[in-house]
Amino acid sequence: MLHIAPSILTADFTRLGEEVTAAFEAGIRWLHLDVMDGRFVPNISFGPLVVRSLRPIADRYGAIVDAHLMIADPDRYLEEFASAGCDYITVHAEVCPHLHRTVQQIRSLGKRPGVALNPATPLSALEEILPDLSLALIMSVNPGFGGQRFIPGSLDKIARLRRMIDERGLSGIELQVDGGVNKDLIAAVRDAGATVAVTGSAVYAPGRDRAEMIADLQKALA
Ligand code: DX5
Ligand code: ZN
Repeated sequence: MLHIAPSILTADFTRLGEEVTAAFEAGIRWLHLDVMDGRFVPNISFGPLVVRSLRPIADRYGAIVDAHLMIADPDRYLEEFASAGCDYITVHAEVCPHLHRTVQQIRSLGKRPGVALNPATPLSALEEILPDLSLALIMSVNPGFGGQRFIPGSLDKIARLRRMIDERGLSGIELQVDGGVNKDLIAAVRDAGATVAVTGSAVYAPGRDRAEMIADLQKALA
């Protein structure tokens, strides 16, 4: 079973509540929130305030909210994101010199820890921390912007991580894939072993009907 997790980066921010409600009404039960700081990634998006605002809407549908922190020194903001109400908090391995401590900190705040890897970061960066994680995130684009093209080598990376997880009997870990996933790719992403597919522009394309976009993704998975 694959969760489709819309990212709101390309949604209409003047109507954010309606935008996420439309996705939940179409059956979505996982929301992926992309936090960017203009340092770790070139773009700036939003912070805990948006997480806090959307949480009650997600609660109405029993949906999961994950915060993907594309920020330098995430340790400084873990408490804020935890109190804003995310279920998962995902940090990037590239900016966490004390990754084990960061992961334990997320856990001690009562949240599920995730670790993300950029396309050029090898899976070996997860080797020691994997048993402590609730989620591992493979970036299939270089983080920073929605609407980029899926890097084809990512499918092999997903499959290798799936093997790593299964060989260790860590079946509780979600394997999330983020970047460029659309209706032509989503089945391949699932077949490679992902359990959560982030979809930004494949749901929130300007001017397109959200329910129709989601139905297209679901059809591709059927
Ligand atoms: C990339 C973000 C992604 C992205 C997804 O930096 O982490 O979540 O916005 O959007 P699409 O699906 O358009 O690549
Ligand atoms: Zn993301």
